[in-house]
Amino acid sequence: MTLDPRPSTLSHIAVRSITKRFPGVTALQDVSLSVARGELHAICGENGAGKSTLMKILAGVITEYDGELQIAGRSVRFAGTRDAAAAGVSIIHQELNLVGSLSVAANIFLGREVRRAGWLLDDRGMEQATAELFAQLETDIRPSRLVRELRVGDQQLVEIAKALSLRSDILIMDEPTSALTDQEADRLFRVIGRLRQQGVTILYISHKMDEIFRLADRITVLRDGSLVRTLDREQTSRREITHLMVGREIESVRLEDGRCPGDALLDVEDLSLPWPGHARRWRLENVSFQLRRGEVLGIAGLMGAGRTELLECLFGAASPPPQGRILLDGRPVAFTHPAEAKAAGMAMVSEDRKRLGLFSRMTVRENITLCTLRDALRGGLIQDSRERRLARESVEQLSIRTAGTEAAITSLSGGNQQKCIIARWLRTQPRVLLLDDPTRGIDVGAKAELYTIIDALCRRGMGIIVTSSELPELVTLCDRILVLCEGRVTGELARGEFSEQRIMEFATQREVHASAGAAS
Ligand SMILES: Nc1ncnc2c1ncn2[C@@H]1O[C@H](COP(=O)(O)OP(=O)(O)OP(=O)(O)O)[C@@H](O)[C@H]1O
Ligand SMILES: [Mg+2]
Repeated sequence: MTLDPRPSTLSHIAVRSITKRFPGVTALQDVSLSVARGELHAICGENGAGKSTLMKILAGVITEYDGELQIAGRSVRFAGTRDAAAAGVSIIHQELNLVGSLSVAANIFLGREVRRAGWLLDDRGMEQATAELFAQLETDIRPSRLVRELRVGDQQLVEIAKALSLRSDILIMDEPTSALTDQEADRLFRVIGRLRQQGVTILYISHKMDEIFRLADRITVLRDGSLVRTLDREQTSRREITHLMVGREIESVRLEDGRCPGDALLDVEDLSLPWPGHARRWRLENVSFQLRRGEVLGIAGLMGAGRTELLECLFGAASPPPQGRILLDGRPVAFTHPAEAKAAGMAMVSEDRKRLGLFSRMTVRENITLCTLRDALRGGLIQDSRERRLARESVEQLSIRTAGTEAAITSLSGGNQQKCIIARWLRTQPRVLLLDDPTRGIDVGAKAELYTIIDALCRRGMGIIVTSSELPELVTLCDRILVLCEGRVTGELARGEFSEQRIMEFATQREVHASAGAAS
């Protein structure tokens, strides 16, 4: 172990020789790191490198480990998250940790409810305090709404508000922007700027290099549980960091030209989705488009534009059901349940993996083969060895990091869980594949692999619709991009016409028109 160059009185957080083993995996191996007071320190690494594990130790979520942790020069050993909170550490979790059946405000004050007269719950008081936190984040989520009614992006904002409400002087952010749009991320960065003025120390995890290079003072790279290096942001580059993360060069993916989409696979005509009790009345309004065989169609738009809703309508997962016509291979379809859509050859990777994608009590194998058990049948019985082999194939294809196919899915890192869901749907070999922000939380190397897989599937004639919170991703992947704004199609761009600026213009068209109207 090398000695820490900074005296411990200077470092706010000192991690000394921490090792953490799980059955079959060493998640952290002799990691030492020091973070100065007021520093924004980024942690980078591939899916499964050990980032979240280290953060969970700092936040008192994981209590059994070897090594030592010091906060402000004092050795600490947290018995739980309460201990960590008392020592001024709070965490924004990667896997959102909210209670769906409670209101937004109740979630934020969970375990430290505000009471009147010593015992009555002060709902109004908590809602007001929540509204003030949201004002900082410039969002208008209603504090009385139930969390389960919120989209993942909004849930992520609640998780952020909750951590901010603790006013800690050490704040851990584990992929805080993974479900946020660029606009929302910008608001978060403004909050981060204010926290830094107040001297808060921040540990920041992200797979988005832009963010890291915009925010961090120093960057630590983990690989396979070991600390590779800590570097000053000013003295390094994205290229170097990526190289240290994956141990090899990652070329930015450029898919070969010459994909030529065939005839119509999916026709959508005047699709409208009612929005009961809402001033806008329609979540989607008269959306029409066509998806061709062997085509990747991107759906762009800001938060609330209706991207997820559109995919849910196609997959029979929207309620109330949409109006309009959907033709699959020229035949009208009206799915009232995802099972019907699946039977007709459609598949969907949902953005909300915790609620809609993952079967948390099952193994990696079960999560992967769930929809294709038929492939493991022999004489009418499921053959275990065959099922395992199929799961192993997927694990290899997507480089899923797991102790084995029999490991519990919840023992996987966030990015690797996401890869399992993608693997499940790829196995179904659908005719139409719907991907809702599929690379959320996936590391740079795996993203590149996924782009190549998508390209290959599409060259074999599959029709793919993909949404993404990252525009460059759509620009890389798609043949065409449809832009939504407040539930309507405001633009369509073909591959030669792509530019982030034009997409943004269409995505904000309504607002532009409205303000132009107001000005005249
Ligand atoms: N509770 C657990 N039980 C068993 N193994 C675990 C558990 N938690 C984490 N691991 C393993 O420890 C390793 C590190 O996981 P960790 O969640 O820290 O990765 P990460 O760097 O945060 O990745 P990601 O970018 O995907 O979030 C992984 O191999 C993971 O499977
Ligand atoms: Mg993680």
